[in-house]
Amino acid sequence: MESTTPKLLLKLTILISISVFILIQLFPIFYLHQVPSLWPQATSKFGSSSPVSLFPKQALPTKSGYLTVNSTTGSSIFYTFYEAQSLTFPDLSQTPLLIWLQGGPGCSSLFGNFMEIGPWHVNLNHHHDHKHPFVLEPNPGSWNRIFGLLFLDNPIGSGFSIASSTEEIPTDQFSVAKHLYIAITEFIKLDSTLFSSRLLYIVGESYAGKYVPAIGYYILKKNDESNHVINLAGVAIGNGLVDPETQVGTHADNAYFSGLINEKQRSEMERYQNEAIRLAKLKRWRDATNARHQVVDMLRDMTGLPTLFDYSKKTPYHKTQWVTDFLHDEKVKRILSVEESAVFRNCSHVVSVALYEDNMKSVKYMVELLVKRSKVLLYQGQFDLWDGVFSTEAWVKTLEWEEIGKFLAAERRVWRVRGDELAGYVQTWESLSNVVVSRAGHLVPADQPLNSQAMIEGWILETGLFRNEQSSFPPVQS
Ligand SMILES: *[C@@H]1O[C@H](CO)[C@@H](O)[C@H](O)[C@H]1NC(C)=O
Ligand SMILES: *[C@@H]1O[C@H](CO)[C@@H](O)[C@H](O)[C@H]1NC(C)=O
Repeated sequence: MESTTPKLLLKLTILISISVFILIQLFPIFYLHQVPSLWPQATSKFGSSSPVSLFPKQALPTKSGYLTVNSTTGSSIFYTFYEAQSLTFPDLSQTPLLIWLQGGPGCSSLFGNFMEIGPWHVNLNHHHDHKHPFVLEPNPGSWNRIFGLLFLDNPIGSGFSIASSTEEIPTDQFSVAKHLYIAITEFIKLDSTLFSSRLLYIVGESYAGKYVPAIGYYILKKNDESNHVINLAGVAIGNGLVDPETQVGTHADNAYFSGLINEKQRSEMERYQNEAIRLAKLKRWRDATNARHQVVDMLRDMTGLPTLFDYSKKTPYHKTQWVTDFLHDEKVKRILSVEESAVFRNCSHVVSVALYEDNMKSVKYMVELLVKRSKVLLYQGQFDLWDGVFSTEAWVKTLEWEEIGKFLAAERRVWRVRGDELAGYVQTWESLSNVVVSRAGHLVPADQPLNSQAMIEGWILETGLFRNEQSSFPPVQS
């Protein structure tokens, strides 16, 4: 065996090499079409004015494409998947898997991919190359350093996902969860040996404060009624909208005590907030959403801030435009296996219209189940005026959970990194953790990449300030 195999291998290799060579000679058009167009810089190693390629090989997702959520209609969710960069668990099939969901509603998770937690970020090409205005640069704060990372363009109709009809776009969180569940199941089926036993964490920010609990809750319910179990281990929500009726009531105080409005303005804003709350209690959802938007518009007018996502910023988050332009490039689309006819919708208007009535509906009851049966991380950038620290604390303290008193009484510890640098504050009790991230706004990982990475790793591995003596959360057994 040992002596014959290498000889055989050598012969086989030579044979294959010759065949490939002949094939290339026979089909030069195929070859030219496939390779150089996908790797524009690979062929021009010398004397190029721009030494950077549009899409370096290392920046490619491990897998990307579509997960069908309805085989009758063909609607499908676009995904990109990045395997863990390094192995810290015995093998990949035991390495946790994170799923990221963007907010909006209707914004693409590729924002998360290319300007927040993904391994490569879109940046301007400083070589001013007309043909390649953007480059990809490694993100040292990537969340796939030691975990697998899956981005889903959710709901259908957003990003590169395909909605066969407008009517099929979800109008409530149950329908969102139904599609996500099918997509996640489909993803696991792509390689069930590799994926099915991995601990799953659902993470997201902003309006995903609705989606994350919705899919988490749905998985727990499905696990109860079938023997096909998804290994949900936890959910994480950054600057999330979870319980709007409570959260809409916090804008006036938050802005007032941040020194952004005066007492008279606070009273005026409170009147509008109370109206939004009243309408929500009456379940007049459309009117309640309108009223909430009025509160936010008022906040924008009164403060004159360039963005309510971060009151310390002089300009809005401009990288969203770079990511949008980058993803409109046909070459990029081909590299990512995007359907040719699909046009990138950075934040889909159609999706936000479909979910308009959902806006003021609470998913707090779903978090109440999740905190009992999985781990929950809430984190907020301290400068956010949309769904920030005070906004989150307001609904968290009303959680129906037997441990909530102990959580609220637990010590909030100062979190330092790299020696003495203040990174924020961590409060944790059993399954619930809350993190305030210093010098960050609504998009925490975009503002504090390394600290956000330390946070998610600490939370999942239960190290540092997340070490939890009371922890009693063995993952769901499959
Ligand atoms: C798929 O689409 C068909 C036709 O619109 C619909 O009847 C069915 O309920 C959908 N299935 C799912 C899982 O949404
Ligand atoms: C989405 O793209 C449109 C068109 O390019 C742009 O006007 C809008 O600002 C973009 N939205 C975000 C969040 O970047």
